[in-house]
Amino acid sequence: MVSAQFPSLAGQSVLVTGGASGIGAALTTAFAEQGARVAFLDIDAAAGAALADQLSARKLKAHFAHCDLTDVPALRHSIDAAAAACGPFKVLVNNAARDDRGTLETLEPESWRRAMAVNLDHYAFAAQAVRPGMARQGGGSIINLSSNNVLMGAANMAAYVTAKAGIVGLTRALARELGPEMIRVNAVMPGWVMTERQLALWAKPDDVAQALREQCLPLTMQPQDICGLVLFLASDDARAITKQVFVADAGRS
Ligand SMILES: NC(=O)c1ccc[n+]([C@@H]2O[C@H](COP(=O)([O-])OP(=O)(O)OC[C@H]3O[C@@H](n4cnc5c(N)ncnc54)[C@H](O)[C@@H]3O)[C@@H](O)[C@H]2O)c1
Repeated sequence: MVSAQFPSLAGQSVLVTGGASGIGAALTTAFAEQGARVAFLDIDAAAGAALADQLSARKLKAHFAHCDLTDVPALRHSIDAAAAACGPFKVLVNNAARDDRGTLETLEPESWRRAMAVNLDHYAFAAQAVRPGMARQGGGSIINLSSNNVLMGAANMAAYVTAKAGIVGLTRALARELGPEMIRVNAVMPGWVMTERQLALWAKPDDVAQALREQCLPLTMQPQDICGLVLFLASDDARAITKQVFVADAGRS
């Protein structure tokens, strides 16, 4: 739980993509705990329904919709339906991703395009979908989850890292384009955060120990470690902050 309260988030309509598990679930929960009306989209229907039940048992406001964000017409439909249920969005957190691995030799045109579709394209189309509603409300905040792998140049995941670098370009371009409508756009680069997926697939003890040695701070990052920064960027307390990239990686990169 984030200890700070951001009064400007109470009652606001917030959209989190990939909000059913990992950092996205922590963010969905953190916004709901601030009193926001949170909609979250995810391809994992079971995890989404479970989180929605958990939040509603705590009397927190959350609306889950199943959506494959790589299907742009479905994304547009889901965002419009979620805005109809929760009110036009004031905050968008673009978070959904899939950190598939593979060496340069294993790349194929189809897998490359899939990596861009699941890690980059929907960030732009979600921003496009929420923009008119934000503009009508006099502004909003878009927070794009990138990765410190862009700074570290992580090996064996070139497509993912390229998409995550593209998110930085998208952030800067949209900040300039949407600034006149008082829509702020920032990016956050997490370090290695121990989500369910990381623990199941990639967090081998030797690699975790190596990461701790490379960080300035010898701590194991948890999804909650990303939440305070994102809440702040979403809130009116950050009203003059846009076009920036924030790294939360315990000083690893
Ligand atoms: N965990 C880390 O160590 C780490 C490090 C750097 C950056 N990040 C970034 O932080 C963000 C969250 O990462 P995470 O580790 O929580 O990821 P995760 O894999 O744990 O969760 C991602 C969520 O996105 C959903 N999703 C995936 N594909 C989807 C699709 N096509 N349509 C709809 N939903 C889809 C998944 O079902 C899942 O709920 C991502 O943008 C990731 O790149 C994570």
